[in-house]
Amino acid sequence: MTNLLIIGTQWGDEGKGKIVDFLVPAFDIIARYQGGHNAGHTVYLDGHKIVLHLIPSGILHPDKICLIGNGLVVSPQAFFQEIDNLKTLGIQVTPNRLLVSRSAQVIMPYHPLLEKIAEESRGQKKIGTTLRGIGPCYEDKAARWGIRVGDLLEPEILREKIQDNLSLKNKYFEAFGYPPFKVESIFEDYQVLGEKMAPYVADISVYIDEQIRAGKSVLFEGAQGTLLDVDHGTYPFVTSSSCTAGGVCTGLGVNPKLVKAVLGITKAYATRVGSGPFPTELQDETGAMIARSGDEFGATTGRPRRCGWFDAVAVRYACRINGVDLLALTKPDVLEGLPEIKACYAYRYKGTLIKEFPSDPWILERVEPEYRSFPRWPGSIHRLKDFSLLPASFIDYCKWLEDTLEVKIGLISTGVNREDIIYNQEKFQKIIGDKDRALA
Ligand code: GDP
Ligand code: IMO
Ligand code: MG
Repeated sequence: MTNLLIIGTQWGDEGKGKIVDFLVPAFDIIARYQGGHNAGHTVYLDGHKIVLHLIPSGILHPDKICLIGNGLVVSPQAFFQEIDNLKTLGIQVTPNRLLVSRSAQVIMPYHPLLEKIAEESRGQKKIGTTLRGIGPCYEDKAARWGIRVGDLLEPEILREKIQDNLSLKNKYFEAFGYPPFKVESIFEDYQVLGEKMAPYVADISVYIDEQIRAGKSVLFEGAQGTLLDVDHGTYPFVTSSSCTAGGVCTGLGVNPKLVKAVLGITKAYATRVGSGPFPTELQDETGAMIARSGDEFGATTGRPRRCGWFDAVAVRYACRINGVDLLALTKPDVLEGLPEIKACYAYRYKGTLIKEFPSDPWILERVEPEYRSFPRWPGSIHRLKDFSLLPASFIDYCKWLEDTLEVKIGLISTGVNREDIIYNQEKFQKIIGDKDRALA
């Protein structure tokens, strides 16, 4: 049985939510392995826009089980807020179809303040984070101060851990002129949240193992993107988790042999939110046009996304790091109408042509992209569902992408809705190797 990993190949917001939603019918379980409610995965359901932040996008399909792995940082408030929002849309989220790892880290009320102080002290060099407390929560995990979901269920342990944290952190807050946090009030709030969360809490590693043994298949839903990975992204302008394929094993407690195939999600141009190097960024009218027609505003913070041309150096790197078997190309419809379309195939640095993505941000800031230019596509590909209707010039562009990235494109998304998709059944089945499972 095939378990598929869906992963962003750029700086996030590639359209993972839309593709996960399309593929969910072929799987039994949908599991997130990293990140938190910094993610914003957009799905259109019967014309309604739904943005999932912490809960896997599979939750919109009533017969699927969704998992939140140990690799996530969980805000209990965001968790229940999202469940309530789904309820208002008529989607019932009960503990029999949403499980949270006992070992996931908990975002505490002091984490967003720690982040605010850190971002302010960076001044011009700020990362431009989502200010959700994600980074400080992962810092506490690595520093071994973290409070985990399982701790919320044991009052004595919870109180002691809050006490330990605040005995140090309150000194820091006082130094920056903020009032100290009170142990008892946090304890009371989080004990109640823990009781409310208890029915959802499970050992996710054991659960997945049992389910896979019973013949069930898992779709691993990546959040953020390869270039935001804490190790392999454009460090330090990254998030604090392992967004890349390796994160699946550590973030869910599954062995590497269980990930059978990797589908890379790649947007037909590039975007990024927040600060950091972006070689193909367009700070001109073309960039503004892409932002407008692609509706490029953050699904979590509403911030405008920076836009630029497709960067094949970066995406090829993402394909290598993650072992991408097949690509889903999203939002090519956004580029239609542009007089010329460009894609970067190499960088020039100090006179030398480089094709490998540099790991040092100061190099990435100084590279000059080398572009290949493509003619505009005649007509519209927006909402097309049939490969045979695609213009020849657009197919040439896709073939160039496949040759340059050395990975085939198996899905082309042409709009926001589930059915706005061109799907190559043959290429896809070859990868997931399971002919019995029908897709939407
Ligand atoms: P994610 O974080 O990777 O799930 O992506 P986001 O949801 O943050 O951003 C992708 C945006 O593009 C969402 O508003 C989607 O509705 C939209 N989208 C996805 N695929 C397509 C497409 O093929 N064409 C167009 N025009 N919009 C798309
Ligand atoms: P999805 O899953 C795009 C960015 C933030 C910031 C950096 C660090 O929707 O693709 P953080 O709050 O995580 O510490 O911020 O990472 N970022 C994202 N950008 N899509 C996301 O998620 C992102 N999640 C975090 O903008 O630059
Ligand atoms: Mg997003």
